[in-house]
Amino acid sequence: MKEKIRKIENEVEKLLKNSKTLEDIEGIRIKYLGKKSELSNLLKSLKNLTQEEKKEIGPLANNARKNIHSKIDKKKELLEENFDAETEWIDVSAPGNEIKKGSLSPLSIVQQDIENIFTAIGFEVADGPEIESEYFNFDGANMPANHPARDMQDTFWIKTDSGDGNGQVLRTHTTNCQVRYMQTHTPPFRIIVPGRVFRQEATDASHEHTFHQFEALVVGKNVSVANFLSVAKSFFSAFFGKDISVRVRPSYFPFVEPGFEFDISCTNCGGKGCSTCQQTGWLEIGGAGMVHQNVLVEGGYKRDEYTGFAWGFGLERLAMMKYKINDIRLFHSGDTRFGKQF
Ligand code: PHE
Repeated sequence: MKEKIRKIENEVEKLLKNSKTLEDIEGIRIKYLGKKSELSNLLKSLKNLTQEEKKEIGPLANNARKNIHSKIDKKKELLEENFDAETEWIDVSAPGNEIKKGSLSPLSIVQQDIENIFTAIGFEVADGPEIESEYFNFDGANMPANHPARDMQDTFWIKTDSGDGNGQVLRTHTTNCQVRYMQTHTPPFRIIVPGRVFRQEATDASHEHTFHQFEALVVGKNVSVANFLSVAKSFFSAFFGKDISVRVRPSYFPFVEPGFEFDISCTNCGGKGCSTCQQTGWLEIGGAGMVHQNVLVEGGYKRDEYTGFAWGFGLERLAMMKYKINDIRLFHSGDTRFGKQF
């Protein structure tokens, strides 16, 4: 029996030396100290021994048990403290798990850029409702009922019971905010109005029924076309990060006089002519002009007391130029492959 006890102790010693994990240790504990272990059986069988033998073997067996116990505990502590460099190493050069994050829509990025550029030169950012009265969308902007120019913009009308011309529309342009702002502010002021607008038209790569415009409006004493050209040039140069030229061509919008279409020098070739600008050196941007006196009067000012300039154009178009996006429908497509690129 003495032999057996020694053998068990030796075995445990060897196994503990080779054990590397807490699971190994637990296995050893169950095998050598568990209820069905050799040592337990041995202790149980002590009762069959003579008094003499009991005196000798009993303490030996009990000691062995205690020893094994403490050795197991020690090894366990050791393993818990010191990890085994061979099995638990970390490869610090391995690529990490990518944390997926969302991104801003290119429209939001462009809008923030625009707001930053304009607020830095003293403009305020204003806004107004997307569901608008016929008055602010049309009449106030010098387009009374039956004005042929109303047909220039294909309007979504909202059904009203009265049908008396006080209809509500989905605003067709951010120009709806001009008279709104004038009625509650006194010149001089300079504002930009970025916002969503709606037109009832068939969609294709360059037309959407729902898109964004951004209006600029500056009103004061002696505001001139030269002021418009200079602000436009500064803005586009800041936005595209390079020197941009602006040119105007005569055009017609009821709420301005004179009115222009304005172009910027091609952002791709700088004006030499390339496929982006169809060899013309210019890119069409939008409409602009000197605010019509009728609009200033609707705004609550005396005729000829102030002058102002205004412009309006699509944010999508600007984003498409900046990021070389070739289809306006991508903005609302919900295609994550598109959104992820920004
Ligand atoms: N509101 C015009 C449009 O939507 C753009 C514009 C704004 C033109 C201001 C001139 C002045 O087409």
